[in-house]
Amino acid sequence: MPTLPLNTGASIPQLGLGVWQTPRGETTRNAVTAALRLGYRHVDTARVYGNEQDVGAAVRSAGIARAEVFVTTKLWNDDQGYDRALAAFDASLARLGLDYVDLYLLHWPVAGKRLDSWRALERIANEGRARAIGVSNFLTGHLDELLAHAKIVPAVNQIELSPFLQQRETREFCATRGIVVEAYSPLTHGQRLGHPVVVETAARIGRSPAQVLLRWAVQHGLVVLPKSTREARIQENGAIFDFFLDAAEMAALDGCEEGLATGWDPRQQP
Ligand SMILES: NC(=O)c1ccc[n+]([C@@H]2O[C@H](COP(=O)([O-])OP(=O)(O)OC[C@H]3O[C@@H](n4cnc5c(N)ncnc54)[C@H](OP(=O)(O)O)[C@@H]3O)[C@@H](O)[C@H]2O)c1
Repeated sequence: MPTLPLNTGASIPQLGLGVWQTPRGETTRNAVTAALRLGYRHVDTARVYGNEQDVGAAVRSAGIARAEVFVTTKLWNDDQGYDRALAAFDASLARLGLDYVDLYLLHWPVAGKRLDSWRALERIANEGRARAIGVSNFLTGHLDELLAHAKIVPAVNQIELSPFLQQRETREFCATRGIVVEAYSPLTHGQRLGHPVVVETAARIGRSPAQVLLRWAVQHGLVVLPKSTREARIQENGAIFDFFLDAAEMAALDGCEEGLATGWDPRQQP
């Protein structure tokens, strides 16, 4: 499993299983267990997904050393602010049943609270209970403001990213500051798996549309976080490190930008 270096000195597996909209209980436990069995070493959850408990249970029972699995969770908007963030982190860690997380993210740049929340994350990082801290849904303006106040530079920015929403400005900003970009909804939440460029590329190289989208992001140096609850798709989405898209195929996908935000859109967030 390829990894990318973080500014903490640790490394992050380039592929992670996303578990948003993965129902709590057996469905989440089965998805995470299957992913770990199939070679994934990275799971992306959040307090608001409601399944931290099941992610933790699956990680703890996988028979894989804790240090080999990269676990991310996130601070939800209701919990932003210094004191609330500290308490929310404790609760997330307890639900996960882990001593530390590999990455703790501010889920959203909540105006008026995000700087206080970040101070709490810095404290959590200094205590070693989150090995790295980062942000999500931060665009360049949000990052500029944060960096003007932060003692710790975020290790990661997790944003929606696909050939149809390429986030070039934010990617360039992060690249120059050593912030790893994670692509969420890398399969466009299913909305562009039938796009002609994706389908034709997939047919030409004998891969699936989902694999083409994930491979495009990996070749751009991004972390990808596809979600599926189905074992066959979890396997398919993980089988992206044994082929390459050539320059023409990458260029065709690079030409698909259309500003598609399938989820919430931080461009509207002051
Ligand atoms: N930080 C944030 O604000 C934020 C926001 C959104 C997402 N995320 C993260 O990113 C992860 C992924 O994003 P996402 O869930 O929005 O969307 P996604 O991974 O782009 O797409 C998931 C959808 O595609 C389907 N799918 C998965 N693999 C497939 C395949 N090989 N072929 C065909 N369809 C396939 C899934 O259905 P089945 O499950 O039925 O297979 C599901 O409907 C989330 O789970 C979460 O970890 C973060």
